[in-house]
Amino acid sequence: MNADLRSTGEHETLLQADDLSKVFGGRGLLFRRSRPEVRAVDKVSFSVRRGETLGIVGETGSGKSTLGRLLIRLLDPSAGRIVFDGRDITGLAQGRMRKLRHEMQMVFQDPYGSLDPRMKVGAIVAEPMLVHGAERSGIARRTAEILEWVGLSPAMAERYPHEFSGGQRQRIGIARAMALDPKLLILDEPVSALDVSIQAQILNLLRDLQRQSGVTYIFIAHDLAVVRHISERVAVMYLGKIVETAPRERLYAAPRHPYSASLLSAVPLPNLRAERQRKRIALYGEIGSATALPGGCRFHPRCFKARLVAAAGGVATTALSKDVVVPSRCTDSEPPLADDGNGHFAACHFPLDPNGAEARDSAPFAAGQSRRHS
Ligand SMILES: Nc1ncnc2c1ncn2[C@@H]1O[C@H](COP(=O)(O)OP(=O)(O)OP(=O)(O)O)[C@@H](O)[C@H]1O
Ligand code: SF4
Ligand SMILES: [Mg+2]
Repeated sequence: MNADLRSTGEHETLLQADDLSKVFGGRGLLFRRSRPEVRAVDKVSFSVRRGETLGIVGETGSGKSTLGRLLIRLLDPSAGRIVFDGRDITGLAQGRMRKLRHEMQMVFQDPYGSLDPRMKVGAIVAEPMLVHGAERSGIARRTAEILEWVGLSPAMAERYPHEFSGGQRQRIGIARAMALDPKLLILDEPVSALDVSIQAQILNLLRDLQRQSGVTYIFIAHDLAVVRHISERVAVMYLGKIVETAPRERLYAAPRHPYSASLLSAVPLPNLRAERQRKRIALYGEIGSATALPGGCRFHPRCFKARLVAAAGGVATTALSKDVVVPSRCTDSEPPLADDGNGHFAACHFPLDPNGAEARDSAPFAAGQSRRHS
């Protein structure tokens, strides 16, 4: 892995992924049955510090959920290594992994789907404690405590999930995940299905819980505004790769990867006037298929910067079509995730300027490119 991506300094590393990969499909056990290979996560390396929140963003299909499931071994990795709390858990048998799972929990987008509709809320929250052998006498008290902690009344323990609103159901999901006081919580789009006002309540609740318990979050979402609200560091994924990672303020003020800049330029601004005047950076086409990844930099078919660099001249170029020309470097060689010396990593041969001007002004359209965000 890129060693610099590991946490250093004051915070201790809680979780570390080294060259983690997941390939779905391919040749099955029956030799002749072969499905197309999907490289959902492709040699991803990063670490998370104890007590911090790492946001993971990217379009649909970029591999965020697969990565989250790999990290807590709900899926087995095809390659790579996961170290959790100083322990290599990559090859841990599922039985031993189950014992460890109280330390690492996951919250899903659809709390209704992950809550058994036949169980009362109290039993749903208590179940992980029972499974992990907590003393029965203490479970009822702890269940009431946790329900209060997430803003629900202990009396609600007697009700069923369908009697609750979406936001309340997500509180129940969080209560269940927090019941065993985990060290790590992976939140996979936890507020995507909720109204904006309820989203804010759940995000505030998560912050409070973190402040009180010291739990570490990996917060997965496609909404960059939501991720900004809660994360200290952000990683941007594209087709199975982390293409940029940086402290939140740096990434949002001066993204260095063209993909991040395009995504950020599409985030609506709260001020209507500013929103009307803002320039959106072109993001050409749709995210490709993880079964047929483009060579070189996998973002090259959609990248505005590659087109600008080719149009400026002075580099060897490759024509993708009659109208689209990009640097040959972008089609031929995969850019490494490189540090700018300040803990800001980007995987791009021609990163945007570190002051953010290139991402802010209209330079991306200087070569007559479309302003439409497709
Ligand atoms: N069990 C599976 N079998 C085959 N392919 C899969 C499987 N799970 C995910 N994929 C594929 O892996 C890629 C990454 O999917 P993943 O669900 O991790 O993306 P995501 O970033 O979480 O997307 P979304 O924002 O829609 O939740 C996609 O191409 C998806 O179709
Ligand atoms: S390497 Fe080339 S195609 Fe990839 S993001 Fe950078 S400029 Fe764009
Ligand atoms: Mg997902």
